[in-house]
Order: sequence, then structure tokens, then C-alpha cells
Amino acid sequence: MSALKKIEQTGWLRGSSAGCRPRFRERRNCWRLVLLGPPGVGKGTQSQLLKQRLGTCHLSTGDLFRAACSRTGCNSTPAMVEAMNFMRRGELVPDSTVWDMVRERSECLQCRAGFLLDGFPRTLPQAEQLQAFLEEALLPLTAVVEYKMPLDVIIQRLSGRRVCESCNAVFHITSRPPKVEGVCNDCGGRLYQRPDDCPASISVRMEAYQKSTAPLIHYYADLGLLASIDADGTADQVFARTMGALVPRARRVNN
Ligand code: AP5
Repeated sequence: MSALKKIEQTGWLRGSSAGCRPRFRERRNCWRLVLLGPPGVGKGTQSQLLKQRLGTCHLSTGDLFRAACSRTGCNSTPAMVEAMNFMRRGELVPDSTVWDMVRERSECLQCRAGFLLDGFPRTLPQAEQLQAFLEEALLPLTAVVEYKMPLDVIIQRLSGRRVCESCNAVFHITSRPPKVEGVCNDCGGRLYQRPDDCPASISVRMEAYQKSTAPLIHYYADLGLLASIDADGTADQVFARTMGALVPRARRVNN
């Protein structure tokens, strides 16, 4: 894993601003994106590709909760124990816990390298809190990307997913297998299957998405920020579609 990636992850995952870096002189020229879409649609995979191309920081609330819990061993913070129990069942973590974690890291949202929010916001109250914060800080979103895909493909993706316990890189046992089974290509860390990728949790997560997160599609469409992308196809094809939708939008925002 590169030193830069490690620093950036430390900033977001541990709650310090150490990872924020003044990469661009002009704030208005950086990318501030939100990725929406059901579990397993490929948000994390696209985040890695977008981050490499755009130089933005990848801020995932799912990674944040998993990291916080593995650091504390789920023993010390009651809010984290509660969050992990929600996650294991596939339910959403309460808005107040999520916003407390994000607010503690608000410097990451103000980073001049921009940001790529993955898994946040996930409810209308979270979206409204984020919007109020960004408006007050004069940090307009560039776009909100919504990934769409049929449910049967999503289930295949989730059941074959493997994640690096050290750097969070995402693999798939057939579509993106690691070079050595069970070992991360990027950092040599151990690959594991997320506990919420079991069939019972997957169906709860899908329901939570439909009930709580899907309404954000209308919210962001009304703000004129939504770009809907077909997420079927290879990761490179989806990435090309995403860039095709984002580049003209960024030109409009920056001109
Ligand atoms: P989180 O970690 O955010 O999970 P998620 O949104 O359910 O999304 P996933 O990470 O499961 O999927 P993804 O879309 O990133 O897909 P990926 O790229 O990995 O959240 C987990 C939990 O945390 C939530 O359930 C909730 O409890 C809690 N939480 C987090 N944020 C919260 C919030 N804001 N509010 C409340 N609760 C919150 O891809 C999946 C697989 O497919 C991989 O194996 C990948 O290799 C493969 N793949 C990807 N793209 C392709 C492709 N194009 N072709 C073939 N295979 C592909």
C-alpha cells in the first residue's frame, strides 16, 4: 500500500486530520462526489478507480465502522458495540451515531483534494445534515452517482466478495481473484468474508436500501446533482461510463 493511501486512510478511519493534504490550490477545482447504490453494486470498487484517476480521498462509513470496531475490539465504546450489532444484522446504524462519526472527521470533507463519499449519506436526515454542512462551508457537491443493477447480479457479487483486513482492498473469488488465494495483492494482508455478506444479512440490507436510501435518489435529482449509471459489466466498463457522466458535469460546475 502506498504511503499516501495509508495516511489518507488513517485520517478518515482514526478521526485525525493527518490525512488531509493540500493537493490542489483552488478548492473549486476538486471533486466532491457521493456514491449511491444498493449493497454490492460496486461502489467500493469504483471508489478505488475514481480515487486513482481524480486524486480524491475515499471516505467510506462502512470502512470507518469496521476499523473503529476492530481497534476497540468492540469492548470500550457502547456506541461502537451497538453499531457493529446493527451492521452484522444488515440494519442501518442510527443516524446520530453516523453523524457523530462523520462530524468528528469534518476536516476530511474540507480537504483540498476533495472527497468521494461511499455509503454516506444513507438516509434523508443524513443527506440533509451533510447538505447543511457543505452549504455552510461553501463546498458544493460536484455530483451524486447512483449505480443501478439487477438483484441477481448483486447477490453473486456479494457472496463472492473478499476484503483485505489490513487495507480494505476488495476482491471477488471469480471476477477479481487475488494472485494468491486469501492474500491481498496490494499489501499482503489476509482476505476475509464480511459477516454481513451472509444471505440473511444481505436481504435485510437490500430492504434497508429500498426503504431508507432509495429516497435519496429523488432528493439529489431535485438538487440537479444526480447521475445514474448502469453498473452491469466489468469494473473498467462501469468506470468509463462514470467518467463519461462526470466530466461534462464538472466542467459545468467549474465554469
Ligand atoms: P458498507 O460497507 O457501506 O456496505 P454497502 O453499502 O452495503 O456496500 P458494499 O460495501 O456491500 O458494496 P459495494 O457497493 O461497495 O460493492 P463492492 O465494490 O465491494 O456498509 C456496511 C454496513 O455499515 C451497512 O449495512 C450499515 O449497517 C453500516 N453503515 C455504513 N454506512 C452507514 C450509514 N451512512 N448509515 C447507517 N449505517 C451505515 O463490490 C462487491 C463485490 O463485487 C466485490 O467482490 C467486487 O470485487 C465485485 N465487483 C464490483 N464491481 C464489479 C464488476 N463491475 N464486475 C464484477 N464484479 C464486481
